[in-house]
Amino acid sequence: MTSVTSLTASVDQRLKDALAAALPGADAGDPLLRRSDRADYQANGVLALAKKAKGNPRELAAKVVESITPGGAIQEIEVSGPGFLNITLADRAIIENLAARAAAGDRLGAPHAPHPGTTVIDYAQPNVAKEMHVGHLRSAVIGAAMVNMLEFSGETVVRRHHIGDWGTAFGMLIQYLIEHPAELDRSHGGEDAAAGTADAEAGLEAMSNLGRVYKLSKAAFDADPEFKDRARRRVVELQAGDEQTLALWHRFVDESKVYFYSVFNKLDMDIRDPDVVGESGYNDMLDETCRLLEESGVAVRSEGALCVFFDDVKGPDGNQVPLIVKKSDGGYGYAATDLSAIRDRVFHLKADTLLYVVDARQSLHFKMVFETARRAGWLGEDVDAVQLAFGTVLGADGKPFKTRAGETVRLVDLLDEAIERATAVVREKDVKGVLGEAEIVERGTQVGIGAVKYADLSTSAARDYKFDLDQMVSLQGDTSVYLQYAYARIQSILRRGAALPEPAAPAAHPELTLAEAERALGLHADEFAQTVLDATSDYAPHKLAAYLYQLASLYTTFYDKCHVLSDDNPRELVENRLFLCDITARTLRVGMTLLGIRTPESL
Ligand code: ARG
Repeated sequence: MTSVTSLTASVDQRLKDALAAALPGADAGDPLLRRSDRADYQANGVLALAKKAKGNPRELAAKVVESITPGGAIQEIEVSGPGFLNITLADRAIIENLAARAAAGDRLGAPHAPHPGTTVIDYAQPNVAKEMHVGHLRSAVIGAAMVNMLEFSGETVVRRHHIGDWGTAFGMLIQYLIEHPAELDRSHGGEDAAAGTADAEAGLEAMSNLGRVYKLSKAAFDADPEFKDRARRRVVELQAGDEQTLALWHRFVDESKVYFYSVFNKLDMDIRDPDVVGESGYNDMLDETCRLLEESGVAVRSEGALCVFFDDVKGPDGNQVPLIVKKSDGGYGYAATDLSAIRDRVFHLKADTLLYVVDARQSLHFKMVFETARRAGWLGEDVDAVQLAFGTVLGADGKPFKTRAGETVRLVDLLDEAIERATAVVREKDVKGVLGEAEIVERGTQVGIGAVKYADLSTSAARDYKFDLDQMVSLQGDTSVYLQYAYARIQSILRRGAALPEPAAPAAHPELTLAEAERALGLHADEFAQTVLDATSDYAPHKLAAYLYQLASLYTTFYDKCHVLSDDNPRELVENRLFLCDITARTLRVGMTLLGIRTPESL
């Protein structure tokens, strides 16, 4: 794999060297290089350095300028204002660097992160026997993007789908099935689950079976105290590993997986069965986790429960609110499972980083769980634990997204609606009627699902956002459709170039003088690799989304200002502009693929 240093990084290094030479002995520090409107870059770091060295900033700046002989990438460097440096790059350098990227293969010369390690990422964790909702969408979409970005940066990634497949609700469900065996025959056994595939119909059927059993058993649970008792005893049997109970539990899980996989399939997302390790997967560790916590004194008995206390976690009454690891009735909760999972992920999976893509409303839970694990010595200084916390999805009214009846909106319904609207947009755009029906449906799906994902990924995860389908599938503004159109339009130009009487293909011509729009596009395209690395280490896919949107916008300006396939253009100009088109398209494709968004070749 060849990696290509970005122009920004090269200039930055040259300035660092020049600063070090101008201030021998001093800690050279950061030149603070920024893209600028005046020149290609401005560097403001001289000011702070001069202050530290008690020197005159303009004099220091002049010294730096003197030591950099223009040539190579830097065409011009001059002092401006109180001691800023304005730097202009050579056109040749921009095209040459991009040509090196184009030749470097699929990664476009992107280097790996300097110190890759192992990240265990906890994402896409729906709950068994329950519908998936928009919260599960966020975890899945953001998590999948992070998996791709981390792997792209060279990290070893272990995926964990911590599904809710354990606990008291299962006692109720299983007991109901035992008492109403006919319900069993109506479910189809979940053969598709193990394969990790399921079509939409099987998924919906599975969920409707589960939903029915859930409602019926819940009704019995609420109405009949004796059934309630039997259900409670059933939980104990389940946790003790009783065979018949476990077999029925498996049917629930498998049936649910058929449903999950059908939704993930619709989301165009690759979820693998061995990575689904739900809460039940840590059942065998719960006892030991509690014992270790109690023996080390990290957890103490309080009102019969095993608890961990924190100075800064208090309720409205001013009393400390503990993390309950084991309830007074002996049952284990969510925290015991998460603590056991940490032990597994650190000691067995050898994680350097634990990343949790979970709703911000669970932040207190994770804060307490991480702190407990630190006290217990399971999370050492060499292991990072991070919650990539995401905000709430809001409806048009700005309140958490609900149906008119006040129920949670089903994720499948939203996705279907997004696909429907996007398909209408694709159909409308196809004025000449070149697309067949199958193509319209395929692109409509790619546009609709892309739109939903992009809306989720393009704002910073911590913020709430409004689920607004009209805006999401709009051709204007910061949407995936806008990016997909930019990509498709480039493909169409490339096809037209190839079909000319004298076919024209992309080729770099560093000897040409660049127009302003070409420079801006080229310089931005050159920043891709660094942007991905930064977005990855910040756990901020929205930074990558913003970069891609900017790239598509710069392309639009370029396309408006610079004719590509014009008869008046000399051959070299046509080829060089096709080259800029091509590198833009390749960058868009790599970037959008990292975000999990398809790039259809035509729209
Ligand atoms: N299943 C949970 C939910 O739907 C999310 C699980 C998050 N992961 C974890 N390790 N606790 O809210």
